[in-house]
Amino acid sequence: MAIKKAVLPVAGHGTRVLPATKSIPKELLPVVDQPALQYVVDEVLAAGIEHIVFVTGRGKGAIEDYFDEAYELEHSLAQKSSKAEILKDVQRTKLPAGAASFTRQQAPLGLGHAVWCAKDIIGDEPFAVVLPDVIVRAKPSCLAQMVAAYDKVGGNVIAVDPVPEERVSSYGVIAPKSRDGRLVEMSGMVEKPPREEAPSNLKITGRYILQPDIFELLEDQGKGAGGEIQLTDAMVRLMEKQAFYAYEFEGEEFDCGSKAGYFEAVVAHALEHPETAEAARAILKKYAAGG
Ligand code: G1P
Repeated sequence: MAIKKAVLPVAGHGTRVLPATKSIPKELLPVVDQPALQYVVDEVLAAGIEHIVFVTGRGKGAIEDYFDEAYELEHSLAQKSSKAEILKDVQRTKLPAGAASFTRQQAPLGLGHAVWCAKDIIGDEPFAVVLPDVIVRAKPSCLAQMVAAYDKVGGNVIAVDPVPEERVSSYGVIAPKSRDGRLVEMSGMVEKPPREEAPSNLKITGRYILQPDIFELLEDQGKGAGGEIQLTDAMVRLMEKQAFYAYEFEGEEFDCGSKAGYFEAVVAHALEHPETAEAARAILKKYAAGG
């Protein structure tokens, strides 16, 4: 069955980048001239997804407004021919009518709980989960690569990428068993293991294609790492019942949940943007040389 819906959990407080996120959703922090979330939504749409379910929370109303019509802004930009390009950029952010749903996670109980909150909107079909903290630069998009793999093997597919060993304890980590190209069979996965207990250095990137059976497992999933209901723990149980693959995607990942990752995303995109590329190179050179 084709993957038509994606869940984007956007309820998190962004504590790692406070106070910047005190009154702005972290997902709307700019990466050059677009919010981080726009890159992620573009990735999702490029994979053929038709409906996005945002799992929001208190203080995240700006996300709904961002994807909506902004009548007054569009009207005033349209008055000036010099603003035609900006108007196009603004209009591009609108999601088609009926293509987005918003539901709320009322308490920060964990990623597993956030995904569970989308269960009635997803219904009985396979779906994607995409974590907006993570921007992936890839062609085809990371999720598109996963959908192509899923179309061949079915079951459940999660994206993974290698991480330096000293950082494994910040992520979900897989235990690889065998490999066929970029597709990896697993014998297990574990959420935020201590470095010495990590089964590999392949971390879960934050991109998932899951069968709807995950919902009944999430329903009674107990608390795991960090005292939170973890998606990884429910996936371990699903793996006992269904085919489950990891996919080592081709591309570059930026974990904007951390200060350094966010900075790297900004630098990488500034070096790519036609308006900023040249200046960004000169600025980097200047500071790399010591000011
Ligand atoms: C979540 C997942 C983790 C994954 C990570 C990717 O953790 O639980 O398995 O590796 O995203 O960024 P979080 O960053 O929400 O703590």
